[in-house]
Amino acid sequence: MAIRPIVKYGSAVLREMSRPVGEITSEIKDLVADMTATLKEAGGLGLAAAQVGVSLRIFIVDLSALDISAEPKAFINPEILETSGATEYEEGCLSFPGIYQLLTRPDHVRVRALGLDGKEFVEEADGIYARAILHEYDHLDGVLFIDHFSTVSRALVDRKLKKLAKSA
Ligand code: NI
Repeated sequence: MAIRPIVKYGSAVLREMSRPVGEITSEIKDLVADMTATLKEAGGLGLAAAQVGVSLRIFIVDLSALDISAEPKAFINPEILETSGATEYEEGCLSFPGIYQLLTRPDHVRVRALGLDGKEFVEEADGIYARAILHEYDHLDGVLFIDHFSTVSRALVDRKLKKLAKSA
């Protein structure tokens, strides 16, 4: 298990459409183990493979910072089946250090994915869990949380974004 560097805003891989995972090989298992360790070290709630520079449809959600009984969970080739409701919450992203924004997202999500064991599962999530899933799912399509900002909010962080992109 190794900590991998987290790719920051400005890196092209964050805008790529990630490819579906074929077989769950030992490389995929290693990647997921590394992503889980990287996410824990960074203290975030979620991490997509693109954020460690790998353009594959995998993300991890780990809510153990909020709920000590929570276990990190890997979602491979996920598919959003349903969303409902709407809620506003302050959101950040490990690829955007220092940028936080109140964003409205669905309050509930139903998602289908493969687990590391290759078996399909369906997860129902609410609140912050739902938000983390939807945020990470966006990463798989090259969508970033700043894309959900209003024009005004986006203008307010414009200088920070340019600085980030420059150092990427
Ligand atoms: Ni993110």
